[in-house]
Amino acid sequence: MNRCARRTAFFSLSLAAATLAFAPALLQEEVKSPTAVPAGEDQTRIDQWMETIEEGMETLRKSVRDPALFGESIEVVEKMVQAAAWARTETPKMAANVAEGERAAFVRAYRKEMIELLVELLRLEAALLEGNTEDAQKIYKNLKKMEEAGHERFTDGE
Ligand code: HEM
Repeated sequence: MNRCARRTAFFSLSLAAATLAFAPALLQEEVKSPTAVPAGEDQTRIDQWMETIEEGMETLRKSVRDPALFGESIEVVEKMVQAAAWARTETPKMAANVAEGERAAFVRAYRKEMIELLVELLRLEAALLEGNTEDAQKIYKNLKKMEEAGHERFTDGE
């Protein structure tokens, strides 16, 4: 290999390494990584990830019915999975209003329900990858029910 070719090869390798190193960071930034999500004045960290999940649900409302949009649906579900994974280890605001003796159980129950949400989102991803419109629509409807039940139990409904 002459000097010029060596330099080109070195440059290509460095570029590939840099791309690999930054790819996860870029993905996280889109969903807002835990370090990029300080609790705001009006919004908790859970709120901010829930917004990602809500935006995803809005897109899925139509895209989940259309196999031509499955690629788009899968991208959205990936973000929802990431957001739900991060939100699951947080403490809901409402915990402050729960009796001290029941607080730990309340936070555990929230986390378990968020795990259920994650499992359902992963099932949706699998259905979309299989091109299974029927299952995808059923899971979407179930997610709506989980939203309602989750908020009923873990928020003060503000
Ligand atoms: C498709 C499912 C869901 C959607 C679309 C959704 C959406 C939302 C939205 C829009 C907010 C308010 C965000 C804001 O005010 O800025 C919120 C808050 C919240 N959600 Fe969900 N949610 C879902 C599922 C769940 C589930 C399953 C749970 C419980 C396990 C849950 C627990 C909460 C809690 C605790 C808050 C209040 C934030 C806090 O306490 O810090 N959500 N959600």
